[in-house]
Amino acid sequence: METATAGTGDNVAAQPAGARRRVFSGMQPSGEFHLGNYIGALKRWVLGQEEKENFFCVVDLHSLTVPQDPAELRMRTRQLTAIYLAAGIHPDKSTLFVQSHVTAHAEGCWLLNCVTPLGWLNKMTQYKDKSAKQESVLTGLLDYPVLMAADILLYDAQEVPTGEDQKQHIELARNIAERFNHLYGETFVVPEPVIAKVGARIMGLDNPLVKMSKSSSGVRGHSVGPLDDPAEIERSFKRAVTDPGNEIRFSDDPAKAGVNNLLSIYQVITGRSGEEVENDFANARGYGDLKKRVAEVVIEEFRPVREGAARLMADAAELDRLLARGAEQAAAVAMPKLREMKEKMGLIVP
Ligand code: TYM
Repeated sequence: METATAGTGDNVAAQPAGARRRVFSGMQPSGEFHLGNYIGALKRWVLGQEEKENFFCVVDLHSLTVPQDPAELRMRTRQLTAIYLAAGIHPDKSTLFVQSHVTAHAEGCWLLNCVTPLGWLNKMTQYKDKSAKQESVLTGLLDYPVLMAADILLYDAQEVPTGEDQKQHIELARNIAERFNHLYGETFVVPEPVIAKVGARIMGLDNPLVKMSKSSSGVRGHSVGPLDDPAEIERSFKRAVTDPGNEIRFSDDPAKAGVNNLLSIYQVITGRSGEEVENDFANARGYGDLKKRVAEVVIEEFRPVREGAARLMADAAELDRLLARGAEQAAAVAMPKLREMKEKMGLIVP
């Protein structure tokens, strides 16, 4: 898949020649996992899994930055793990773990807090958007990107594959890494965001001018996810907002954003080129046909994820066993890096 990497490749603690590039990425277990998460992140993790050294995390500590129901958070943490696995993340090829199981993340966040100017955090657009919607804003919400920087930097990750909305956070992680390296000597790899050219910002089916998001997942027809009933997915696509025309082509025109979104979804799921996609619809009978065929490929893509996740969820003990193994592998990388941070910052490390 075509990807655009922002960043300059100026990694300071590069790995030995021939080593596979190291990848770190994560998702919050709160809210409904949706097609945007799948296309912008999970599918791409799976596609790149073979040739990279991967760390994929369920970032439960990040979910706590807004109020959560404890039982539901626990359930969703296992559910998201099951979705990762059912979508094709293989525990022998990738390290799959829960953030809170590796204590270095919270500790590393504290140490990085102490080199991060407050002004950098106040500028984050996600913080500004999210905090504006809340009556009482928790400190953790402001600190969210520093925890994310700790996630990435503890693993010396070179690549961070995400949707477009995380780009600013990854830029901040780069700035924090550079500042730490400057203050205490070369310690961290400076990571690069890896953001796809197509599908990095899947829009709401009910409103193609706003990003598909977990916070709107309760809104009827906004998003679809792999755990949804296929008939419901079909209905959501049928109702998808388009425009009064009938031209099925990729376009930057905001008036055509609905059709563009549907074509992008189809392109990423089928793995076809833009030209092939437009050819596929050259003889379509209007938008009804387009919506029907996009719904079909999404339902087919989600079927094994839905069935696999249900099977895995039936055996919580097995999921927990896999996660314990993942946490051990992750800690073996993160804990020595945390120790290095502490030593450089002047703490006595017993
Ligand atoms: P989260 O849980 O909000 O989203 C998970 C991933 O899905 C992508 N995404 C989208 N991609 C395309 N179209 C959309 N509409 C869409 N909505 C979401 C996100 O870009 C993300 O890749 N802060 C992160 C979690 C995180 C993390 C990290 C990521 C914590 N630590 C370290 C990378 C590295 C987040 O909120 O993801």
